[in-house]
Amino acid sequence: MPDVRSRVYAWLDERIGLKDIEKLAKKKEIPVHRHSFWYYLGGMTLFLFGIQVITGILLLFYYRPSAEEAYESVQFLMAEVEFGWLIRSVHAWSANLMVLALFVHLFSTFFLKAYRKPRELTWMSGMALMGLTLGFGFTGYLLPWNELAYFATKVGTEITGALPLVGPFALRLLRGGDEVTGATLTRFYGIHVAVLPLLATGLIGAHLFLVQKHGMSVPIGVERAGYDGRRLPFFPNFLLRDAIGWLAALAILGALAAFFPAELGKKADPFAPAPIGIKPEWYFMFMFQTLKYLPAHFGPIEGEVVGILGFKIGGLFLLMIPFLDRRSARGERSRLFSAIGVAILAYMILLTYLGYTMVPTQ
Ligand code: HEM
Repeated sequence: MPDVRSRVYAWLDERIGLKDIEKLAKKKEIPVHRHSFWYYLGGMTLFLFGIQVITGILLLFYYRPSAEEAYESVQFLMAEVEFGWLIRSVHAWSANLMVLALFVHLFSTFFLKAYRKPRELTWMSGMALMGLTLGFGFTGYLLPWNELAYFATKVGTEITGALPLVGPFALRLLRGGDEVTGATLTRFYGIHVAVLPLLATGLIGAHLFLVQKHGMSVPIGVERAGYDGRRLPFFPNFLLRDAIGWLAALAILGALAAFFPAELGKKADPFAPAPIGIKPEWYFMFMFQTLKYLPAHFGPIEGEVVGILGFKIGGLFLLMIPFLDRRSARGERSRLFSAIGVAILAYMILLTYLGYTMVPTQ
């Protein structure tokens, strides 16, 4: 038997260069120090993205992207198709866990200043992936064509329409017309299953290439405390530890899907009045709640417009962080940027909390 194995190995090596791949895998090492745990979060996000791709493809076999059939096709999937409910529920839960893992990955790389030179582009490609992931969430939410999703999309796209100059155009572009209709559904469907997966795959490829090229960063604090240079081989040691996390995530996903299956609610009725207390997905809640607190006008400018522009500037600020935090780039501690990170995180958590605990009035 070993002879067969070594012959297959030699055959493949001659054609695809297995030895080179092995050499590359052996070269990759992970620094071991008190913050090493955070190195698992990117891999966890990648795993959950993989789950999304697999379950998403399975959903495509039954889903029908039209206002007349979308809701019914999801209803059929949940009630009649064997394990259809499980696949849909895993897709919904894994989307939530992926966003959560992504937030933790973003903030951990932020606080460890992993964005500093020469990893500026790793950070920026990550920020773009964050944007795409939020886009996945926003477009996917509408696809079952139920009441809650319909009105949340109406409000969500309305917010874009409030922007000066580009607003009306962006609104029509997103909705495929003036209102949220079947045309919006088709558009969101195309974006959700083709445009975003294509962009995300390319960007993840670029992100991972950069991670591979630069290796894992050692945080400034660890370096200053006299890092002893301990390292763990990525293959197989780190990857096996990654796999333990992935198995745990799979178990959690299975349990969540079984005990709290995805709901469907009532079919969307564009002519019905909006139900009380429309809520976006939890990861949009802090923005949604902020807009509620703003006054109707700041001088001549609408409050909502100020809020949206504020978030856009905030996003741009985060994107450009590697170039703004000059102290980190020089390998010095930068308490100011850590404090900014804490302030952003505290703001997001507080506003999300308020979003869920305030009594809905509209
Ligand atoms: C689909 C989304 C993403 C995937 C699949 C992903 C995947 C990964 C993986 C596998 C790693 C190496 C292991 C680790 O450090 O955790 C990594 C590193 C990194 N990621 Fe991401 N990532 C994503 C989004 C993001 C976001 C949103 C940011 C921040 C804006 C980001 C910033 C970084 C940085 C700076 C590193 C280098 C860490 C270091 O060298 O210490 N990534 N990513």
